[in-house]
Amino acid sequence: MTQRCALITGGTTGLGEAIARKLHDAGCTVLVTHMAGSAGAAEWLEKQAQEGYQFKVYEVDVADYDSCQELGRNIEADGFQVDILVNNAGITRDGTFRKLAKEKWDAVLRTNLDSMYNVTTSYVEGMAARGWGRIVNISSVNGTKGQFGQTNYSAAKAGIQGFTKALAQEVARKGVTVNAVSPGYVATAMVEAVNPEILEKQIISQIPMGRLGRPGEVAALVAFLCSEDAGYITGANVAINGGMHMY
Ligand code: CAA
Repeated sequence: MTQRCALITGGTTGLGEAIARKLHDAGCTVLVTHMAGSAGAAEWLEKQAQEGYQFKVYEVDVADYDSCQELGRNIEADGFQVDILVNNAGITRDGTFRKLAKEKWDAVLRTNLDSMYNVTTSYVEGMAARGWGRIVNISSVNGTKGQFGQTNYSAAKAGIQGFTKALAQEVARKGVTVNAVSPGYVATAMVEAVNPEILEKQIISQIPMGRLGRPGEVAALVAFLCSEDAGYITGANVAINGGMHMY
């Protein structure tokens, strides 16, 4: 099988890290990004290497168009052609709408939604020209059902679903698939930041499986969507939420 090159934004933590490892297991060359200015990349790489995982880390601010353009140029200069893109980087800035500062709205929309344009634009042309590509955009159960305290996040994640379906149509004839994955509540730092009482009483109690998801469960789904076998799946929004919201 051809060795594919995968780029995972936000690939050094949480879901992104699990996805990076799963695609490495599948034989891909894996590039990951972490937030520009954040520390710890060297230690992270070392820890991964001790466990048999080789990655290349790039710094980028996915909310910033110029930073993403620079990322694209750096990846090209290093001789990589991105076949698989996982738009995973995302943040939360929760708060009820009536108290939601403009900064919290902007930060979430820029990081979670503008990033779809900022990042994808550098790689889609190459995928189409080579006649093969996989793009997986990480949305959320809350983009479909909405969530108290998350007008910004729910709006951005719903936007990702629309973006996915539109782009999927545009590149379908070029061998490029574009899908969204909508995880529910997964055991990562993002979910652990929710007040434990709210998490237990309002959220886990609403999950038919009665537990949080595991990062590896989401990563396995993403890896399948990136595989050769998933070539006829495009424009889908695949739910993985323990039954929390069924559609
Ligand atoms: N539905 C209706 N009313 C609710 C409610 C709900 N789900 N939750 C709280 N309320 C009510 C409270 O009873 C309270 O009512 P009173 O004022 O009448 O007493 C009021 O709303 C509280 O409103 P506040 O504006 O004061 O809210 P707060 O500041 O206490 O808390 C919040 C707001 C921080 C957003 C908190 O509700 C919260 O953390 N909610 C969970 C948000 C969440 O699920 N985030 C997910 C993060 S992980 C992620 O995003 C990953 C993913 O993709 C799933």
